[in-house]
Amino acid sequence: MVRSGKVRCGHRIVASTMVRSSFACLHVFVYAHKHCNVLESKHATMKTVAIISQKGGAGKTTVAIHLAVAAEQRGLRTAVFDLDPQASATSWSDRRNNPRPAVVAAQPPRLANLLEQAAAQSADLVLIDSAPNADAASLAAARVADLILIPCRPAAFDLDAIGTTLNLATLAGKPAWVVLNAVSPHGKLGEEAAVALRQGGVQVAPLTVHHLVAFAHAVNDGRTAQEYDPKSRAATEVDTLFRWLTKTLDLQTSKRVNVQTRKRANIQTRKRA
Ligand SMILES: Nc1ncnc2c1ncn2[C@@H]1O[C@H](COP(=O)(O)OP(=O)(O)O)[C@@H](O)[C@H]1O
Ligand SMILES: [Mg+2]
Repeated sequence: MVRSGKVRCGHRIVASTMVRSSFACLHVFVYAHKHCNVLESKHATMKTVAIISQKGGAGKTTVAIHLAVAAEQRGLRTAVFDLDPQASATSWSDRRNNPRPAVVAAQPPRLANLLEQAAAQSADLVLIDSAPNADAASLAAARVADLILIPCRPAAFDLDAIGTTLNLATLAGKPAWVVLNAVSPHGKLGEEAAVALRQGGVQVAPLTVHHLVAFAHAVNDGRTAQEYDPKSRAATEVDTLFRWLTKTLDLQTSKRVNVQTRKRANIQTRKRA
């Protein structure tokens, strides 16, 4: 059951008055940015994704590290920049028996420089994990990103708080997508939250990450759900999220072009030999 303000939303989520009013003022901005879906990366093929949410516990670090491992498993050179002073992603990496993906403790003033370094080292993807309640740092992350992901639990407090995060995305002028996370596998809360958000003009990723113990369990020893149990539902959901992200970022296409170019180069070398 989800409650918001004085509006009680029972089996069906109706966008609460609070959520509605925040969305009403955001609508114009979100609409404007939705229709100028420009991916403005300074780096030719490297893509940068900022994962921001002003709400703690929304799933920023969980999404960042699972996407990073998914990318590495598909051959993309990936780095996670950890902007959170609590350093959850960095600690996860310390517990991990694998140097990939690279996890770098970062501060906002160093972001541009770190991105240059990542590009110079032929990184394909950088995921920026950010701290909650850190407007300036989250805005810095959003500004250098090609795309912003906003993990959000389908609960009233989280939905109410999403306006602040969407405002940051709007200020940064970057395309932003809400990813509904930790959705109960039972009931229709996730679907209903997605409908309410879309009605408010918010872009919601066409997939759901459910509340599954594998997501929390796997990270204890520095793994991710897809490494802990590749056949698990959590692994399948990460795969769906990753495939949607690569399509939205046109990331696989550029990688495929690289692979095809390399293949063509090999054929030409063999012909010449
Ligand atoms: N989809 C999920 N299923 C189960 N547990 C989750 C899920 N997403 C996040 N969690 C758990 O919720 C807590 C907060 O997630 P975290 O990624 O650290 O959030 P944030 O980085 O936004 O503060 C962690 O204990 C994490 O393991
Ligand atoms: Mg975190």
